[in-house]
Amino acid sequence: MLQERIEHRWIAAFRRTLELCGVGPGDEVAVLAETQSRPILPDLAELALHAIGARPFRVTMPSPAVSTTIPLRSTGTSLAMGGHQAAIAGLAAAKLVVDCTAEGLLHAPERAAIMARGARIMMISNEHPEVLERLQPDPAIGEAVRAAVARARAAKVMRVTSPAGTELTVRLPGAPVRAAMGFTSADAPVAYWPAGLVAIFPVAGSVEGQVVLAPGDANLTFKEYCRERTTLTIERDRVTAIAGDGMEAAMLRRQLEDWEEPEAWCVSHVGWGLNPKARWDGLMAYDKAQVNGTELRAFAGNFLFSTGSNEHAGRFCRGHFDFPMRGCTVELDGVAVVKDGRPA
Ligand SMILES: [Fe+2]
Repeated sequence: MLQERIEHRWIAAFRRTLELCGVGPGDEVAVLAETQSRPILPDLAELALHAIGARPFRVTMPSPAVSTTIPLRSTGTSLAMGGHQAAIAGLAAAKLVVDCTAEGLLHAPERAAIMARGARIMMISNEHPEVLERLQPDPAIGEAVRAAVARARAAKVMRVTSPAGTELTVRLPGAPVRAAMGFTSADAPVAYWPAGLVAIFPVAGSVEGQVVLAPGDANLTFKEYCRERTTLTIERDRVTAIAGDGMEAAMLRRQLEDWEEPEAWCVSHVGWGLNPKARWDGLMAYDKAQVNGTELRAFAGNFLFSTGSNEHAGRFCRGHFDFPMRGCTVELDGVAVVKDGRPA
């Protein structure tokens, strides 16, 4: 069984990653945690910052009470800040916030205020440190992501197909395209580790078709591989039908219904993975408590489809599903960027 104790090699991995983010001696860097954080992650961040010669300080928020009977997982929307103005002001004064909250500040409502004075955010995904060690950020992958982002920004239409029957069309003009390189930079002031993918947030009314989840695809909210076939019909961004006789279709339908939020049925983001170090079979090696599943969001050649909040289409909600899919072909204006589940 893997233990979560301080290992020198994990301090070294954190140090390399934070140096890639531009942290140097004397920098005032916040380590943000919450009471339900994985304790070793802020500890490793703090030790690595000391090793660099930076000046870390730690902010630990009380994890908030649950607001629903549905367990919140895999949302990228930490609720730990709770609008706490003093904590926001402290974080905003830092050069970098190393975000070790359980869900991360990616879509948190306080994100803009924290970054208002120039602070960047480096989110450490809630993974066992071995996952982070295996998937250390790599500038070469960052360049591949940058190139992919440029292609997506220049394209008008994304089309996704698969042998299982996926046929999805996304109109791209106006849709923000986000690079997930694995480290912060001037052009990517928010980053997370592990990463290596492109995420596109379609504008309102731009997604039509069907997504067929097939065995071997993954549901990262449930941290499970699909073993059945489930068909999602999408009309004007919204999942209007979930077809499938199996347990997986029933569970997905049940949870989306229980959210009682119409936005939970809508498309959040689409994109594809570019990280050759990330493994499709990565979930098999760990217990659920050891991973957040971010590795599967990034494996090279996936198509990543997700439902839930999309601030760029004016939709906010709590429910969020990420589905990394295998074997798809992703085309931009008719040119494949992923062909049969492999980078083109
Ligand atoms: Fe997502």
